[in-house]
Amino acid sequence: MMSSWQSGTVILVARVMQDVTFHGFEWGFMGDRLVCETSLKQDYISATHYINQRIENPFMLPLVVATLDNIKIKYSVRRTDTYLYAVISKRLHSHKSHNDLLQQLLDLYCAGKSAELLVPRNQVKMLFGFLRLPANIITWKIYHLCKYLQVAVRLYAEIDKLPTDNRPTIDDMLKLPYLKMVVDELLRLYPTALSLSRLCTTADRICGYWLPAGAKIFVLPYAIYRDDRFSTFKIATIPRHAYIPWNLCPWACVARQISMLQIKIVWTAIIQQYTFICLKVCTVVPKADFSLGSACPVQTTLIRR
Ligand code: HEM
Repeated sequence: MMSSWQSGTVILVARVMQDVTFHGFEWGFMGDRLVCETSLKQDYISATHYINQRIENPFMLPLVVATLDNIKIKYSVRRTDTYLYAVISKRLHSHKSHNDLLQQLLDLYCAGKSAELLVPRNQVKMLFGFLRLPANIITWKIYHLCKYLQVAVRLYAEIDKLPTDNRPTIDDMLKLPYLKMVVDELLRLYPTALSLSRLCTTADRICGYWLPAGAKIFVLPYAIYRDDRFSTFKIATIPRHAYIPWNLCPWACVARQISMLQIKIVWTAIIQQYTFICLKVCTVVPKADFSLGSACPVQTTLIRR
């Protein structure tokens, strides 16, 4: 992707980062380039759009009612299923060895037979559904670096200590404590997993509030994260549950390590070569939907360093 950029290229950050995370999905999870060459990406966008609409409007007609939107989304879901079945079945008949997440799922659930494809299909589909989350964090990061020069200078200085002759590696990421602090801070300000929902299985009293059995509870990280910072010194004093961008075990995000790695590596690779000027410095306000994106698109001009 970066080889198609040059100084002066203007990018719509969220769209570009979504493409980056799609490619990560292709290579890391599915082991090939099929995904982006199909309508799957479009179906994914329609599905997230539909979920967002449902979140914003609880009175939407249920899927059984044949409105135009409902017909479209059902079609998208069917096409995604057909596509994923085709990829899975192709893999089951492949004689090559594969070392990716899809293969692990198939080994786990199908033991090499095509008898039960539903579980791996649903697993892949669920993972697919979360793809936008790291993209949103990278987008917020670019916006903030345009805005907060001091942070940008410190981050560039840290990343510039890495050798530039190779692409950034996993080991390099361990040498970037300030980058980690910046990502943690962005996850605090813009927790992409916007709400955690729980069902009370038994009645309980929490902080003086009576919760009957069957009550639905929503924890809103955006509201509880407003006073903490992430220096090595400070982090030791923060109560364990005060900052849960990935939630904690046993409910922790299954993709937390890979997402953190993806955010940091993508970011480092870009920063080694480019700085940014945000063209449309509209006040970028967070927009709550399936994830926490921005209400207006962040557009930036890339300047070759
Ligand atoms: C910045 C990126 C991400 C953040 C901040 C994030 C955060 C979270 C959080 C807070 C939960 C717990 C939800 C709960 O307890 O109700 C969760 C669960 C989960 N996440 Fe992520 N996530 C991210 C990226 C991803 C990605 C890229 C994937 C898949 C490719 C993914 C897959 C999952 C799955 C499957 C679960 C459910 C785990 C379970 O219940 O066992 N996440 N995530």
